[in-house]
Amino acid sequence: MNRDVIIACDFPNAEETLAFLDKFKDESRKPFLKIGMELYYGAGNEIVKEIKRRGHKIFLDLKLHDIPNTVKKAMRILSALDVDMTNVHASGTVEMMRAALEGLTRPDGSRPMLIAVTQLTSTSEEAMQKQLLINASINDSIAQYARNAKEAGLDGVVCSPLEAGLVKEACGKDFLAVTPGIRFADAAADDQKRITTPARAREIGSDFIVVGRPITAAADPVAAYRRCLEDFCG
Ligand code: C5P
Repeated sequence: MNRDVIIACDFPNAEETLAFLDKFKDESRKPFLKIGMELYYGAGNEIVKEIKRRGHKIFLDLKLHDIPNTVKKAMRILSALDVDMTNVHASGTVEMMRAALEGLTRPDGSRPMLIAVTQLTSTSEEAMQKQLLINASINDSIAQYARNAKEAGLDGVVCSPLEAGLVKEACGKDFLAVTPGIRFADAAADDQKRITTPARAREIGSDFIVVGRPITAAADPVAAYRRCLEDFCG
């Protein structure tokens, strides 16, 4: 699997998204894009199809979590959108993740990559232990969720870049670590807590970095994207 930079298109509507993407139209490499809940709920399948038509790869980040039968049927619908990657919450159990994979797999055996969210990067160890009564360290919990995702047949997990090494240790080097929480060394952290730079994420073992505001809010988004590519992909 080749390393790549995924831009998080956290915009509320199609107009803002397409105006942002127009800045990249002369780039030889079409950026891999993430469509999350905000844009999907705001602009629906049409924006997915339009971005696909423009030739970008898409990570559809909807983080499904429901009973296995519902997730399986929802994944069957999403599979028809022909995105390249999508995801579920690992806390839905191995059975739910297996059902997701089944729903996502097309009759010809092809399917988008499927990854699982371990512990959200916004969840602290204290909240996990006191509110959710998970009596483990956050790292043990992340490693166990990753092992569950692997057992279910998924391709990898979403985690903080600082946890990519832990995930590789638990599940092997071919199990994907997709990591948000990326900041340039000279930039603000915003609301992110467990962050690192593109270069450090590469050293720790991330396969894909998901980068939002360091690119979308930059004065020159194309230059910021190129800087990420250079530092992460080399
Ligand atoms: O702007 P920023 O680079 O912080 O954006 C990171 C993106 O990754 C956002 O779309 C955010 O929702 C997503 N994400 C995250 N942490 C997770 C899962 C997803 O930051 N654990």
